[in-house]
Amino acid sequence: MTAVKTLTNMDEHSLITNELFNRHIDGDSGLAEDAELREAAGRLAIILDLARQNFEKEAPAARIVPKLVDDLHRVRGSSSTAVWQKLVPFVQNHAVGKFLFEDPLTHWSFNKPRGYSGDASLLDIYYKHSSMSGHVGEASALGKQIYDCTVNDPACAAGRERCEILARTVDEAVERTGGATEILAVAAGHLREAEICKSLRANQIKRWVALDQDPVSVGVMTRDIGGSVVDPMIGSVLGLLKRSYDLGTFDLVYASGLYDYLQQKIAVKLLQRLAEFLRPGGQFLFANFSDEVTSDGYMETFMDWQLILRSADDMWEIINMSVDRNQFDCDVWYGANRNIVYGSLRRK
Ligand SMILES: C[S@@+](CC[C@H](N)C(=O)[O-])C[C@H]1O[C@@H](n2cnc3c(N)ncnc32)[C@H](O)[C@@H]1O
Repeated sequence: MTAVKTLTNMDEHSLITNELFNRHIDGDSGLAEDAELREAAGRLAIILDLARQNFEKEAPAARIVPKLVDDLHRVRGSSSTAVWQKLVPFVQNHAVGKFLFEDPLTHWSFNKPRGYSGDASLLDIYYKHSSMSGHVGEASALGKQIYDCTVNDPACAAGRERCEILARTVDEAVERTGGATEILAVAAGHLREAEICKSLRANQIKRWVALDQDPVSVGVMTRDIGGSVVDPMIGSVLGLLKRSYDLGTFDLVYASGLYDYLQQKIAVKLLQRLAEFLRPGGQFLFANFSDEVTSDGYMETFMDWQLILRSADDMWEIINMSVDRNQFDCDVWYGANRNIVYGSLRRK
């Protein structure tokens, strides 16, 4: 009780109160978990309130945000999953959010204008894509300062590198197949990699099917690159698994920004299905944010963006559970800052 009392007194600006706390932990959690929860909540209250005070004193965001991101990572890392999940709403309701939500990236992610996490416009914000520069430009001065921190976080840098890796993988597939290449992008979003893809500009691609479940994203692709060899289509993982689309076969199939949302069982089923689309020599590439991401605590709280973070071993496990390794050359590797891990299979 003492810890909570201290917490309440100290944290009068946040919504972490005795009452809320007791209501939240009433239930099936054991005593050990309650003690862990109270201890972690105490640490969080100090961290969050310090950040709030610094924002109020108009300290530069660059002195507040990276420290906050790091502190949330540490609390998340030292808490059990059950305790962390109980802490998330307390963090989200803390008064420091008022400042953080001035950041267009944090605000978009938390508010989910398309109704789900990680939509392609959110990615455009962290890709620093021109389509969202007007939106970012409307942010307050503080919002822009915070954005400068969040958008340059290693996870966002890794996301931008992923886009380059996709474009390069497409170009390599074209080189390998000598043109007339056919490609399938699953959960394509806005297919921004197409904009930096040399072989598309050189008219060396025969067909690039870009499948996504979001009609808005498919509309953006149709507007921006439809009418070329790019064939945007509304489709889902479920539709793929149910064999609802007659797509033919491909030299390259890839999924970026999708596996991070898939439990292992579905991840395996999808890989098995997508591998069926590969011609001999064809490649499947999938990317996943890695368990070395250090902005996980910030993402799960102020961005309300939960991802399944995977290690290289996790990627290997998905591959090994999905295919007969005698029939595929497989590889797993990390991007430059190790925040994204890639899995690749090439049909022999
Ligand atoms: C994080 S974005 C990735 C966009 C793009 N691939 C990229 O890397 O920039 C995730 C995309 O997955 C799509 N998506 C999510 N669940 C899906 C599903 N079950 N089937 C098809 N697309 C899905 C979303 O509509 C969204 O466009």
